[in-house]
Amino acid sequence: MRGIAHITELVNGFRCSKVLFASVKLGIFDTLAQHPDGLAVQELAKMLPNQTFETTDGLARLLRGCVSLSLLSMDGQKRFSVLPDTKTYLTTSSPQSWVGYINHSNDMLYPLWQNLEASAVSGLTCWKESFGFLEGGDRAKAFEHIYHGPEGAKRFQRAMESTVNTTAPQILDAVQFDWITGVLDLGGSTGRFCTHYLDANPRCQRAMVFDLPHIVDLAQEMRKDVPINDRVEFIKGSFFDPLPELPGEINAICLSRILHDWDDPTCETILKNAHAALVKSKARRAGIVIFDMLFEDDTKVTSKDTVIQDINMLVQTGGRERSVSELSHLLEKSNFTDIQVHRTGSSLDVTIAFCK
Ligand SMILES: C[S@@+](CC[C@H](N)C(=O)[O-])C[C@H]1O[C@@H](n2cnc3c(N)ncnc32)[C@H](O)[C@@H]1O
Repeated sequence: MRGIAHITELVNGFRCSKVLFASVKLGIFDTLAQHPDGLAVQELAKMLPNQTFETTDGLARLLRGCVSLSLLSMDGQKRFSVLPDTKTYLTTSSPQSWVGYINHSNDMLYPLWQNLEASAVSGLTCWKESFGFLEGGDRAKAFEHIYHGPEGAKRFQRAMESTVNTTAPQILDAVQFDWITGVLDLGGSTGRFCTHYLDANPRCQRAMVFDLPHIVDLAQEMRKDVPINDRVEFIKGSFFDPLPELPGEINAICLSRILHDWDDPTCETILKNAHAALVKSKARRAGIVIFDMLFEDDTKVTSKDTVIQDINMLVQTGGRERSVSELSHLLEKSNFTDIQVHRTGSSLDVTIAFCK
């Protein structure tokens, strides 16, 4: 018995998330981070970008919310300052910033989760109920929806970069990738993972990103703001089509948070295309590296984060998180063998499998 405290914590969960999202959106943490001695609410109100405050009462109450959630501190003169984790993870210019993921959560995930009931009943995404976009059942359209609007693609890529910046170092620490001579990151977005990989493995001969044509164009634009390693190369295409011939050095294809976006038959298409490209490359030892959260086969011991992320895929892409045996089954059907699973301690597990 955990009592009513457990229930009230769950009831308040979305309110706490929204305090965080609204504070990021208003630029509160970015502004306070530039004032190490703190700011009073009236001073802060004058400095926040794109806002005119008729009264500071609402802002003062939001700041008090941030103090209660251990995001800000308040001194005896009621001056507010950012706490160290807030500066590291919640300010735009920090190398470990999660601002991109928080903006995606606020603008897209929050409205989607509002219609979780619809997804629970249909087993499909709820873009139609949340944004009026197309049928929930049209899975192939998930990324059109995510990328909708002038800032949509950029917002999502920033969201992906946020999480790569915190998970990649943990993954690269936890797993040996010394068999890799060159890597193709399929659905590799702006090249952020390849940048971490090349920085950690300077002797890697080649690192290439493959993504949709408009995302590759966007990546070139975005690297002006947040640079990526100069050695990262880009290829435009769709992983639903046969992949182009790979340069000889590429003996690994990475799929980071790709398979969890899709249903099983679609995953098989992607995996078979990857297998065909690796086999043609004639590398002596060629394999696939998958970064996704994994359910334990005994679901009772699966972490809450994985279970919640699985529901996030239900409402957003129509994909799913998988157990080790479900993923192994897909890999074996796509001609991969010698499957190794690494629990990395980050929010992504790593599964490696080699071509038969
Ligand atoms: C969930 S994101 C993961 C991005 C990156 N791998 C990471 O972990 O940060 C999925 C990526 O797949 C790309 N994608 C979606 N459909 C694709 C397709 N048909 N062909 C190639 N890439 C695609 C998206 O543009 C996006 O960059």
